[in-house]
Amino acid sequence: MNQAATDTVLSGMRPTGQLHLGHLHGVLNNWVKLQEQYRCLFFVADWHALTTHYDDTSNIAQHSREMILDWLAAGVDPEKATLFIQSHVPEHAELHLLLSMMTPLSWLERIPSYKDQQQKLSNKDLSTYGFLGYPLLQSADILVYRAAWVPVGEDQVSHVELTREVARRFNYLYGREADFETKAQANAKKMGKKAAKRYQQLRKTYQETGDTEALAAGHELLQAQSNINQEERERLTGYLEGTGKTLLVEPQPLLAPASKMPGLDGQKMSKSYGNTISLRDDPKDIEQKLRTMPTDPARVRLTDAGNPERCPVFQLHEVYSDEDTKQWIQKGCTEAGIGCLECKKPLIDSVLAELTPMQERFLHYAKDTAALDKIILDGQAQAREMAGETLKIVRESLGLA
Ligand code: TRP
Ligand code: SF4
Repeated sequence: MNQAATDTVLSGMRPTGQLHLGHLHGVLNNWVKLQEQYRCLFFVADWHALTTHYDDTSNIAQHSREMILDWLAAGVDPEKATLFIQSHVPEHAELHLLLSMMTPLSWLERIPSYKDQQQKLSNKDLSTYGFLGYPLLQSADILVYRAAWVPVGEDQVSHVELTREVARRFNYLYGREADFETKAQANAKKMGKKAAKRYQQLRKTYQETGDTEALAAGHELLQAQSNINQEERERLTGYLEGTGKTLLVEPQPLLAPASKMPGLDGQKMSKSYGNTISLRDDPKDIEQKLRTMPTDPARVRLTDAGNPERCPVFQLHEVYSDEDTKQWIQKGCTEAGIGCLECKKPLIDSVLAELTPMQERFLHYAKDTAALDKIILDGQAQAREMAGETLKIVRESLGLA
């Protein structure tokens, strides 16, 4: 695999127990797509779980392992993506510590999730050092792999924004090597006469006129060069932009196509509402949950006309059913031509058809503990290798090498 750093995607999930259809449609299906196009790293954020659950750690290890099983079941492929557990890669902690030295407290205190979560989880004492540092640990997770893209939900965008600010501050403080210009000039020569000349022209245009098209063309030119290594490319990027050397790479959030997976009661599907279908639910229970889920409250008898707009079942059909089926329901419901159980039947079939192959994969990996162990160990090795390279750059630029 020889892809540029711009192609790295990283995301993490806290080990909260069984994943449900909301995770599948909101996150995992997207990961399965991303793994085809990018160098993907997906990890279980078990240290992040400790920030709120430090008082009971009994389930963390088991939940972490099972979460990877759920990912595999959903189709995340260990041949394509690197899967690992955060606490197996101590480089995250080292980078977090070093970043904590130069991160202003106010940057962490003003992050919306800090006060929100403290209020929401008011039964817990979250005035801890670790909880305040939650988003900075997340920044370390991202920066340690030089990830370009971070698939996250809306609620996490401020954490990626913090990550960008931290990277900029770090590069500003430590990115000015003594012989930066000399080195950049030598690196430019390595690209060959023609490319070097064009690079110098684009740099001059951008720095003299602020022409962003010249900047974009410069980035493109650097991406296309095969004679320079990653470190040289990053130095040349810094030289092009007129900043210092890029020690840490600023990531971008990658907002997943919005999925508002409705739960069994019409609210958003969430464990705390008790309205979920888990990926591992027994097919009999899934059928039972769907058969008993509420419908349009106005439809008491079969002869009462209903309104799909007021029915949580129809919200699920919006996710699972094609146009023909939806029209059949629209007509049948409003004219009292079909019964609610009849309406639920194609939904039950679709959910079971979606989950059956996943449950087979889950059982396969759950039985083969050696195979799962190997996936987690291989993931750790791959992650540590990448993270180690960044830590080397970081230690050197701080004079700790
Ligand atoms: N904070 C994320 C969440 O609660 C989990 C997470 C931890 C994460 N580190 C990350 C997500 C790095 C993306 C990148 O969902
Ligand atoms: Fe809901 Fe379908 Fe019953 Fe209409 S027929 S109320 S859409 S379950």
